[in-house]
Amino acid sequence: MKNKIKKLLKEKNAILLAHNYEPPEIQDMADLCGDSLELSIKAAQTDADIIVFCGVHFMAETASILCPGKTVLLPRKDAGCPMADMVTPEALKQRLSELGTMPVVTYVNSPASVKALSTLCCTSANVVDIANRVKEDEMLMVPDRNLARYAAGHTNKKIHLWKGWCPIHDQLNPEHIKKARQAHPDALFMAHPECRPEILELADRVASTSGMIRFAKESKHKSFIVGTEIGLLYPLKKANPDKEFFPASQTMECPDMKKISLEDIARCIEFMEGEVKVSEDIRVPALRAVERMIKG
Ligand code: 13P
Ligand code: SF4
Repeated sequence: MKNKIKKLLKEKNAILLAHNYEPPEIQDMADLCGDSLELSIKAAQTDADIIVFCGVHFMAETASILCPGKTVLLPRKDAGCPMADMVTPEALKQRLSELGTMPVVTYVNSPASVKALSTLCCTSANVVDIANRVKEDEMLMVPDRNLARYAAGHTNKKIHLWKGWCPIHDQLNPEHIKKARQAHPDALFMAHPECRPEILELADRVASTSGMIRFAKESKHKSFIVGTEIGLLYPLKKANPDKEFFPASQTMECPDMKKISLEDIARCIEFMEGEVKVSEDIRVPALRAVERMIKG
């Protein structure tokens, strides 16, 4: 299967991108693994004709927004992000009519149709920088209330919250961390900003998925408790074979990030299945918000 995929990728001038949570065999096949920001930048720069995106739907949509001339394939069309579905254009318009007009900062974990109504996009890697880049003193941040509260704690700006959350990260509670720290007293605790504020308060480091990989590499510490989706344990270990990583909770598994198999990848390239294409009326305004994030 691996050889078949390699051959198909070459024949069709396709590139395989994989998020850091994807299963090990997919990360090992990918031309690039990364967090949402790194994958968006790579998608924008590639000269491949086809982008095979092993991640979830909003990631493939972002690639389509950035690369209208390329074919973007998502090997499993049903790989979605429940948090991205917690905001719609209609609900956003309604909230803005209540709050008054203000800049909207939209996490990339969102539908393209919401990005199209936004001032700027952000990811977990750049949220504080993006909030500071907004000229106005007040903004609405959608859809992740935890990410927005994290940003609010690191800027003087007023950030209005949206009622959205990641079901995987939001379930982590202080009891999990207490137990993990008792079991691994020498380990540093790294947390993703999608975790609740009471968890982030306990963290030695708050970072995006790739930020955690870099932090573990640069740190003199030998062991880490990992407060994010458990798929990240694989690239953490791969990049740091001499260090130890322990999940903050075994329950932090995102089913959507585990849907794609090698068979799905081969089939989608062979038969050009699973295309994700954002229509021009949405793509053009969404591109403005994504480009402002990437280009600064
Ligand atoms: P990163 O951008 O940090 O990789 O996070 C993406 C995501 O979906 C987290 O749940
Ligand atoms: Fe969405 Fe959470 Fe899964 Fe990330 S881990 S894709 S935010 S549901």
